[in-house]
Amino acid sequence: MKLWLDTADADELRAASRFGVISGVTTNPSLWAKAASGTDYREVVVEICSIIDGPISAECVAQDVDGLVEEARKIASWHPNIVVKIPLDENGLEAIYRVSKEGIKINTTLIFQPNQALLAAQAGATYVSPFVGRLDDISQEGMTVVGDIVDIFDRYNLPAQVLAASLRHPLHVIQAAQAGAHIATMPYAVFQAMFKHPLTDAGMQKFLEDARKAAKVRT
Ligand code: E4P
Repeated sequence: MKLWLDTADADELRAASRFGVISGVTTNPSLWAKAASGTDYREVVVEICSIIDGPISAECVAQDVDGLVEEARKIASWHPNIVVKIPLDENGLEAIYRVSKEGIKINTTLIFQPNQALLAAQAGATYVSPFVGRLDDISQEGMTVVGDIVDIFDRYNLPAQVLAASLRHPLHVIQAAQAGAHIATMPYAVFQAMFKHPLTDAGMQKFLEDARKAAKVRT
């Protein structure tokens, strides 16, 4: 499972990129507003493309099909690594079908049930993004949706990749991997939590103390 960062914050991304394990990025208008309100979305996305050499998702906000198609073409022209995010409703599905035929890569966003993913995949989307945390927020099992989509895509050899999104804590990352997601996108704080275990910290402290003791005995 690939690890992507869910952020529009270039500094966070630079910090996370130094380990070489982040291979893509997802952004959305809310992340842009949080990280860089008042800036130009294109500039933010192009800067992100200069930090991570992999798929970078940037989201459309148009409301009608022609508007979505036009916006998707415009966003895709910003950089060769861009994947255009389109939400899955009736207009979104038609737009996905139209722009996918032009070779534009689409990440279908705001997916909450397997039928939406099945439609997006058949319309030509490259990625489908079930939102785990937002389902958990309303007492539904978000990760079950990820597993169901993976099973359906496997059974019918659908090439779209399942991108587990809206992950809120490190256990979600483990569960996404167990469910067979191709990619997990996560906030920087969740990525940082993947490193951590109190026994690692305690073990390192003990080894350090013992190394100091051993060195003393020798001198
Ligand atoms: C990913 O593509 C989404 O933008 C993101 O994961 C949404 O996360 P949230 O539900 O925490 O806002």
